[in-house]
Amino acid sequence: MRIGSPGYTECLGSVRINDVQQVLELDSGRVKELPLRENIDVQKIEEEVIKDFEERMAIIIPIKDEKLELFEGVISGVPHECLIIVVSNSQRRRVDRFRTEKDALKRFCHFTHREALIIHQKDPVLARALVDAGYTDILGEDELIRDGKAEGMIAAMLVAMATKKDFVGFIDADNYFPGAVWEYARCYAIGFSTAKSPYSMVRVLWRYKPKISTGMFFNRWGRVSEITNKCMNSLISNRTGLETEIIKTGNAGEHAMSLKLAEILTYASGYAVEPQELISIFEGFSGVLPTAHRTAAKHGIEIFQTQTRNPHLHEEKGGRHLLVEMLLPGLASIYHSPLCEKKTKQLIIDELLQQDAVRPNEEPPKPCLIAPLRTINLKRFTSVMTEYMKSYSVLE
Ligand code: GDD
Ligand code: MG
Repeated sequence: MRIGSPGYTECLGSVRINDVQQVLELDSGRVKELPLRENIDVQKIEEEVIKDFEERMAIIIPIKDEKLELFEGVISGVPHECLIIVVSNSQRRRVDRFRTEKDALKRFCHFTHREALIIHQKDPVLARALVDAGYTDILGEDELIRDGKAEGMIAAMLVAMATKKDFVGFIDADNYFPGAVWEYARCYAIGFSTAKSPYSMVRVLWRYKPKISTGMFFNRWGRVSEITNKCMNSLISNRTGLETEIIKTGNAGEHAMSLKLAEILTYASGYAVEPQELISIFEGFSGVLPTAHRTAAKHGIEIFQTQTRNPHLHEEKGGRHLLVEMLLPGLASIYHSPLCEKKTKQLIIDELLQQDAVRPNEEPPKPCLIAPLRTINLKRFTSVMTEYMKSYSVLE
């Protein structure tokens, strides 16, 4: 695969934010002994290197009541070397959708000779393992894991830690293009292969999203990420005193992290999770507040933003969902950060008022924060889960 080098890198304390990198060639051919000419603007990543990193990566697929055909397409696009971890919050009562997902995954693994894990977010054994291991921030009043994509992602990351993987990458289950899934996973692997720090993150940016309906969905969606990026950049600009537009992936659902980085971040519930990851990095490592982790600060935190080639097409979920569940919590995580100064707070309020997402004189609600993964007693969690995971594994 051939990828453009980042045009420039913005530094914020020990955080290095790379500008967008373009995928230039999905397949860059065999290893050639001697490169014809060096070009520092372009990086060629050999297949073997990509495979080495894919082998160390778990691809986490959060799913909640999606069409089975879409799910089957998504898993078919995950590179063979990656471990698939599906975290489902699909209904089990009237129709047992989880059972259907598990069967589909099992079939897939049987025919492709590969391994995968599938867990249900509401599984009481999983919740009990968390209680035993002292990690309870994602549990609800019923003592099960709460609803929410972030809660599912966190449960799956803990499972990935128990399987001793080095990287986790997220891919939604409602993607119409298996080719896009394949490209995302490769971009994750490439980001990690070029990272100089073991504390790194790759966030995907779509070249274009086809418009399949004339409703407000796609327009709004473009607006959601545009507004989140604008507010995030305002926060950085006001901290550094230099205007910047470096953040282009504030909401990126398709993203990946080294587990070393994933373990030390504070998360937020629901769809605030992706903006909050960036906010946690800025809070912990920009040098304004006390450092969150000395070793990580020494290595530096590296953020890559990669623009993929495949179009992104997913299920349409409606306009209100975007406003209430995505824009508002995302901006709230910026607003309530101790890094957020007056100007950015005002910008956020103005944007939310304009979108009718808050009333005059109303503040966005505080995000529900979730402790870093490293606060879990992993040994205890792993010992409960190892036995139990045998029944989660779809490998026979
Ligand atoms: N396990 C689990 N639990 N999965 C969930 C839950 C849950 O409670 N809620 C949603 N999901 C799954 C969905 O089935 C889908 O596969 C994925 O999480 C994303 O949810 P969507 O509802 O499709 O989100 P979206 O398309 O509006 O937004 C996506 O893209 C945004 C921009 O990249 C999400 O990935 C956002 O997090 C992201 O910011
Ligand atoms: Mg979606």
